[in-house]
Amino acid sequence: MQYTIAVVKGDGIGPEIVSEAMLVLERIGEKFGHSFTWQEVLAGGCSIDAYGVPLTQETIDVCKAADSVLLGAVGGPKWDEVPSDHRPERALLGLRAELGLFANLRPAMMYSQLAAACPIKPEIIGDGFDLVICRELTGDVYFGKHYRSQSTRGWGEMGCDDMNYSVYEVERIARRAFEMARVRRGKVTSVDKANVLETSRVWRETVTRIGTEYPDVALDHMYVDNAAMQLVRNPGQFDVIVTGNLFGDILSDEASMITGSIGMLPSASLNESGRGMYEPIHGSAPDIAGRGIANPIATVLSCAMMLRYSFGLTAEADAIEAAVAATLAAGFRTGDIAAPGEATVGTHAMGEEIRARI
Ligand code: IPM
Ligand code: MG
Repeated sequence: MQYTIAVVKGDGIGPEIVSEAMLVLERIGEKFGHSFTWQEVLAGGCSIDAYGVPLTQETIDVCKAADSVLLGAVGGPKWDEVPSDHRPERALLGLRAELGLFANLRPAMMYSQLAAACPIKPEIIGDGFDLVICRELTGDVYFGKHYRSQSTRGWGEMGCDDMNYSVYEVERIARRAFEMARVRRGKVTSVDKANVLETSRVWRETVTRIGTEYPDVALDHMYVDNAAMQLVRNPGQFDVIVTGNLFGDILSDEASMITGSIGMLPSASLNESGRGMYEPIHGSAPDIAGRGIANPIATVLSCAMMLRYSFGLTAEADAIEAAVAATLAAGFRTGDIAAPGEATVGTHAMGEEIRARI
């Protein structure tokens, strides 16, 4: 098959890691008889530098027309002083909204080869964990109205952000979560703050109702504060966590940290037709940008998610994931996942090792 992929390398280490991932997809193409057409576009800080805005209509159009979008990372200290509605992050939020990417899947698991990097004691972590956070991505307080007003309690100026969830938005993300649990270990934990928030009461009611359509999947509910605690107390209890945009943002950072290797974790953001944007969950790491030492694995694994979720290419996705596992088993480490004193390889060498095992 022939696939057109919009490539948004972005800022910082983005270009280095995405280039390696593209070569991995080329290798998959050779081996399995697919061809990939790349359409590189700018977004984030590099777009601000080139066009004065973080996201152009051209970038949106190219991403919409492509079969899939591969993104590196956006942002960096260079653009910290830019006004908030023009910051590089706006590019991400804009692409999510424009492409209707309501379902953000963030797997977090412990690689047995990297167990030593896990910051949780072995007796607590037991056999490890393998969970996926299914985060709603185009609603919640992120996309409510943001404005200033005057306090009715006489406390002067106040900032306001409107938090809202429609039943429809909760239904579609809940279905995604249940469908995913079906092909995993059959358990969904819905995370909310229904003891305080009306949005969360709508969330809980709706997830419970959709849950009756999936009698084969076990559903439980957890308040977000408890979920934050449970993630470090016993992460092995989770299979699929479904939650809103803000709680999902916070919990997914926590989940990535307990793997001990944030440079390893991929993500997918999908729309209703199953098309999507794929990116590592880590950021642009400006401190190591341009040095050829960043870990490309999260981006490579994001490509595996693309093949699996948008193109239905299971064997190809498996081949990438197996090659990554074999490369780690053979002892190759970038600096972020190396134990003290262990030898390291750079970004390109890591990419080559992975490709050699496909
Ligand atoms: C993420 C990031 C973004 C978010 C930022 C950069 C706007 O933290 O993808 O998790 O909050 O969604
Ligand atoms: Mg985040």
